[in-house]
Amino acid sequence: MKKTYGYFMPPVNLMGAGSVEEIGDQIKKLKGTKALIVTDEVLVEIGIVEQVTDQIEEAGVETVVFDGVQPNPTVGNVEAGLDLLEAEDCDVVVSVGGGSPHDCAKGIALVATNGGVINDYEGVDQSTKPMMPLIAVNTTAGTASEMTRFCIITDEERHIKMAIVDWRVTPNVAINDPLLMMKKPPALTAATGMDALTHAVEAYVSTEATPVTDSAALMAIELIAKNLRNAVANGDNFEARDNMAYAEFLAGMAFNNASLGYVHAMAHQLGGYYDLPHGVCNAILLPHVERFNLIANPQRLADIAEAMGENIDGLSVREAADKALDAIVTLSEDIGIPQSLSDLEGTEVKKEDFEVLAENAMKDACSLTNPRTATKEEVIGIFDAAF
Ligand SMILES: [Fe+2]
Repeated sequence: MKKTYGYFMPPVNLMGAGSVEEIGDQIKKLKGTKALIVTDEVLVEIGIVEQVTDQIEEAGVETVVFDGVQPNPTVGNVEAGLDLLEAEDCDVVVSVGGGSPHDCAKGIALVATNGGVINDYEGVDQSTKPMMPLIAVNTTAGTASEMTRFCIITDEERHIKMAIVDWRVTPNVAINDPLLMMKKPPALTAATGMDALTHAVEAYVSTEATPVTDSAALMAIELIAKNLRNAVANGDNFEARDNMAYAEFLAGMAFNNASLGYVHAMAHQLGGYYDLPHGVCNAILLPHVERFNLIANPQRLADIAEAMGENIDGLSVREAADKALDAIVTLSEDIGIPQSLSDLEGTEVKKEDFEVLAENAMKDACSLTNPRTATKEEVIGIFDAAF
């Protein structure tokens, strides 16, 4: 049987304290003269955006700020950013933030050169032209959207998250400067960190995992187990922030190529339907989905237990796999993540919605690489268990 694998990465990746200072040079290498900065209002308020625009302007490149990105970016956000880019005649896009600004910027940069609307590119590799050059400056250790070919945009009319998986939305340059991550509040650090853990776990148990993605996934899991608690407990802990920056990047290397599974397929539905935070939805669903997945490959979960620092000496593979599930729940509890969908504040998740959420989850591209195939009733059962 012929089966081949690809490996997708941005061509340039800058890491470490102070790496954002290289952004001006990078924009000039891409021949940019006027940059559209895609971000949100909070990052403008706390001064992170100014730190980036100062560096860009010092290099003689003009900037225009679009700060209208919502937490789950919408088709409307992409259109508003695109209008500004065209009105201001920008020739390079810079996203500043976590997953939401990066995803919105990918949508803007793709439609800017390919035309039409972002909905035209839902699915896999639907574009035909390179997007406008995009530099992604990452400020949270979570989604890894700064370095992936995934772009998730909420279609407000259909109440679903569209997955645009296209190698052409891979940013030209990804910058992970841990100094930009220091001021993040504990709840955000916890939720984004659990998103990164979910990427690594889902990639490791994925049907598309390879030795290349496995090595990145296991290192990510180890770094998260060792550093996420410290990053939540003390946001100024540089070592924890630096290690979490590497961990989320490694998890991105893993899932950008091995893809994900039912946790993300199901979390996308919760996010799209109720506008809930992505990392929290993943954290709640992760142990329940992996309990369902356990029979597909218990050795993989046993490996995860070991990477999380659990002592599995003398245990059977099945016992070690159970330890992974316990370790995930303990980490999630330790960092203050709600443990069930009914505990979530702000929006009331309703059991009667599970049927339609399950139907849509099974259509989500992330479900294709889950190691165990579920029926709709089984997906509803996982939602019920997480309720
Ligand atoms: Fe994610």
